[in-house]
Parts: sequence; structure tokens; C-alpha cells
Amino acid sequence: MESIGWIVVMVSGAGSILEAMIQKGVPIKMVLADRQCRGLDIAKKAGIETVLVDRKDFRINGEFDREKFTRSVEAALLVSAPRFVVMAGFMTVLSPSIFINFRGRLLNSHPSLLPAFKGETAVADALAFGVQVTGTTIHIATEKLDDGPILAQEAVKVMPGDTVESLWERIKVVERELYPMILKEMLT
Ligand code: GRF
Repeated sequence: MESIGWIVVMVSGAGSILEAMIQKGVPIKMVLADRQCRGLDIAKKAGIETVLVDRKDFRINGEFDREKFTRSVEAALLVSAPRFVVMAGFMTVLSPSIFINFRGRLLNSHPSLLPAFKGETAVADALAFGVQVTGTTIHIATEKLDDGPILAQEAVKVMPGDTVESLWERIKVVERELYPMILKEMLT
């Protein structure tokens, strides 16, 4: 079925989830990054417009100006008029205005079965806790970190001898299928 509208993807790192979205034909108008990263290179290679809102440029007297950074991100997003703004490994916490201006349209994927193990050490925390099952959650992002209505979840078993890297990679294998699938559904 034909997609209605397009998305903007926000990245900070390896961008392997973005890569899967591109490969699976998710309509991406623009990729926005908060730092130089592989995600940006992937987008450029695919001929997708890129925008860098470098968080390094928002330090005033050594302090990160989160509001100003968020306003710049919002301004870039508004130009693209996306149906959804999709965080795929985006590592800057945004200030509240974006959750008001893009209410219900800001999506995130988190490498745990929320509400367990919020935060950027989710995979390490799950491993340290000794859970036998963890996974991924695709959810609507709200002002509260790693919170908001859940759109999809899938479990991943923890294997004996797993490291953070091996477990996270198996979670990402699932995310690379699940996130594009959910987006395609939401765009039809
Ligand atoms: C994913 O595990 C995602 O859930 C988390 O960051 C990771 C991004 O991976 N928020 P990559 O940069 O797309 O490889």
C-alpha cells in the first residue's frame, strides 16, 4: 500500500536501525544528527537530506543549553513537515517543548522491555540484574525519558556468556525488523 507522508529519523551513532529502514523502503525525507556519526554517512550515501544540529555548538560557559538545542531541532523538523519524527539511537535528551509541538508524533525504540531498564545503560543493567529475557520496545516518546504509550515489544533471550555487545546486537537484529514494520503500518 502507498505511504501517506514521510518521516524524519534522528541518530547519534552507528545508524544500523536507520540503515534497515532505508533498505526496507521506509519513506525518509531527512536524517538529523546531534553529532558527526556513521548514521549521517549512511543517509548521505542513500541520497537522503541530512541536517547536523551539533550539540557541541550549544555549550555556553561549559553548560549545555538544552532549550536552545531543542528549538534548533524543532526548526529543522518543521521545514520537513514529517508525519513522524523517529528516534533511532538519538542520544540527546530533548526539552519539553518538542513533546508538545510534536505530540504523539515522536517515536523511539529502546533496547529493553519497558518499563524495565530505562536509560542509556539498559542492556548492561538487564545483564547485571540477571534477567533471562529482555528485548526491545517501540513507543511514543513523551517528556519522561523512555516512557509513553507502547506501540510494539519483542522479547530477546539472554544467552549464557552474553556480553553487553552480543546481547545488544541480538536486540538490534529484532529492532531492524520491528521498527521499519511498525513505521510502514503507521504510514498507511
Ligand atoms: C538501538 O538499540 C536503539 O534501541 C537504541 O540505540 C540503538 C541504536 O543502534 N536507542 P544503531 O545506532 O541504529 O546501530
